[in-house]
Amino acid sequence: MRMHRKKNLDIRLNNCGDILLDNKIDLNAKLAVKSPNYIDINAVYKNDNPLCLEIGCGKGGFAISHAQKYPQKNFLAVERLSNVIISGAEKAAQLKLNNLKFLITNAELLKGFLLSGSVDKIFLNFSCPYPKKGYENRRLTNAKFLDIYSHLLAGGGTVEQKTDNKDFFKYSFDSFLSNGWQILFCTEDLYSIADKDNIMTEYEYRFTSQGYPIFKLVARPPKSLND
Ligand SMILES: C[S@@+](CC[C@H](N)C(=O)[O-])C[C@H]1O[C@@H](n2cnc3c(N)ncnc32)[C@H](O)[C@@H]1O
Repeated sequence: MRMHRKKNLDIRLNNCGDILLDNKIDLNAKLAVKSPNYIDINAVYKNDNPLCLEIGCGKGGFAISHAQKYPQKNFLAVERLSNVIISGAEKAAQLKLNNLKFLITNAELLKGFLLSGSVDKIFLNFSCPYPKKGYENRRLTNAKFLDIYSHLLAGGGTVEQKTDNKDFFKYSFDSFLSNGWQILFCTEDLYSIADKDNIMTEYEYRFTSQGYPIFKLVARPPKSLND
């Protein structure tokens, strides 16, 4: 189903001010990666605290709660749809959260925005499972994306993935392993373990209220120059 473009979207995006980083991106992945437009992270957050990244942040509920809970960490919430990210960006702007920024882009382009080894943790929360075989390369745990995450993560950095989708979880688990990643943690029922640090996302709230189990894994990239 196609989503209607929200009314006055451009004005609303502009009104978010510096919560939204440069969103005038080149949507051609090859061009964007060839001519990088690196974000000066220390200048943006005015500190050199560790940077966490969420890819596919949707309406930004997780990003906002994370930024509130961990003021000593910077957070960058990435989403390809401006129509969706706007709610989170507006709320964060109202809350005046200095450690949270939003970026409208496709995950494929991230190497063009962030320096190698600049990210401490990447969250993949309820990423679109793209179940059709023909769309496998759009899954955010496809080898193509794992390569981008390895590039971005600092030594010791990890990817944390949560999903309600068993097949997608299995695909992701296998993809991490076959690409040389180490699985540090894995559960097929997150709510069977008391994880007091868990922050619920909008999708997570929906699925847990319907009684679905939540799958979670934490993975570390193969040893790289950043280690
Ligand atoms: C199912 S929603 C989950 C939203 C939120 N993380 C949550 O858990 O409530 C997945 C989001 O990922 C975004 N997305 C999918 N592929 C993406 C990509 N390649 N780059 C950036 N965002 C992407 C979609 O637009 C969508 O908003």
